[in-house]
Amino acid sequence: MPEIDFGPKSTVELKALQLKRMRASLGHAYANSPHYREAFDDAGVKPDDLQSLSDLARFPFTTKADLRARYPFGMFAVPQDQISRIHASSGTTGQPTVVGYTENDIKTWSNAVARCIYMAGGRRGMKAHIAYGYGLFTGGLGAHYGAEALGCTVIPMSGGQTEKQVQLITDFKPEIIMVTPSYMLAILDEFRRQGLNPRDSSLRYGIFGAEPWTEAMRAEIENAFDLKATDIYGLSEVIGPGVAQESVTDPGGSIIWEDHFYPEIVNPQTGEVLPDGEAGELVFTSLTKEALPIIRYRTRDLTRLMPGTETPMRRMAKITGRSDDMLIIRGVNVFPTQIEEQILKCDGLAPHYMIEISRPKRMDEVSIQVECREDNVSAHGSEARRLSSFVKDIIGISARITLLSPGTLDRSVGKAVRVKDLRRADKYPREKPNRRQKL
Ligand code: DLL
Repeated sequence: MPEIDFGPKSTVELKALQLKRMRASLGHAYANSPHYREAFDDAGVKPDDLQSLSDLARFPFTTKADLRARYPFGMFAVPQDQISRIHASSGTTGQPTVVGYTENDIKTWSNAVARCIYMAGGRRGMKAHIAYGYGLFTGGLGAHYGAEALGCTVIPMSGGQTEKQVQLITDFKPEIIMVTPSYMLAILDEFRRQGLNPRDSSLRYGIFGAEPWTEAMRAEIENAFDLKATDIYGLSEVIGPGVAQESVTDPGGSIIWEDHFYPEIVNPQTGEVLPDGEAGELVFTSLTKEALPIIRYRTRDLTRLMPGTETPMRRMAKITGRSDDMLIIRGVNVFPTQIEEQILKCDGLAPHYMIEISRPKRMDEVSIQVECREDNVSAHGSEARRLSSFVKDIIGISARITLLSPGTLDRSVGKAVRVKDLRRADKYPREKPNRRQKL
């Protein structure tokens, strides 16, 4: 048995613990955070109104805009001298979102990530190569503390310096790698560039997340490296990586550590809570966090909840995308991951692509630039036609396909940027706080 704490062992025990913790978390937020006091008062609810888990629906949502409006530390619910760590998510526009942790929060987080690494196949004594970025991004340090808590030997490589990544993997022989799936592809290219067979590497378990990735991408990475790839999910506002993790022995959904992070699925338009099994927007309430209790946080990530299998905790389906990543092209809703799936159906095409949308003459035009695989240079023209017909027949949009030589597109060292939307720059207006803010 693992030495780490895996939480309640039965559903009854889990629900009882959740209710107790949820009451405490709402009480803590209300008593110690001016934001929550105001938001609960505005909604006419008090922490004591929570008699059952479903009463949570009576409490107001929290959004990224609420955190931004209280930038940098206005959402913290403990005095500054109890904050032992700060992280921030960069955000493509506007201020970063700042999050804080007490010493206990760091322990909770480390334990959650240790559970993840264990479920992914990692064990005490294995070496873990961490290529998520270190720094304000939660990926590197979150993975690091989790791997240490499990008892792994940590190799804190961070993102970038791809040549060195390959050298260290070759020399130090880690069994585990934690990295974004897109950067794993760059590492793969580098193995090949150096004339090394990635299947001969020591890597056995890959723990990939921080961005959406498809089943086709999983197959690509698993085959290339001869490893088991699992999905790790998380977000800074809730804690960082380690909110949910897929099990290596039962892939197909990630176990949500719901003794700490309580999930709901809501209709993204109306906010109405949906029953388990229905697809919608994931919302989280922290049950044990001290520095930054987060109540009904709208993640914008789209998924559905599924029953637990190996633990009493529920699972979530792979995230198809964020509601704000959804492209509306001539009225058709498209996620970049759907295009990735079609690309990877074409044997001659590599998973390196860029989707560009423009509106030159009042009509949306889509262009997909995609790299060919080294070993499939002769089939180029036919692969472009295949991709174009998959995109047309399966997704329902017409796209101009441009095939590029291997290695042409920029590689990401963290989260990949795969869409350039050249339509109106104000297409995604900045979010507004959902209520009047007093700073
Ligand atoms: O990306 C935390 C993280 C680091 C998770 C390393 C996993 C591994 P943020 O920068 O705040 O935190 O971004 C959070 O990234 O709301 C999702 O949209 C997306 N995301 C994270 N994990 C996954 C995943 C980190 N496994 C945002 N699949 C989230 C799909 C993911 N999207």
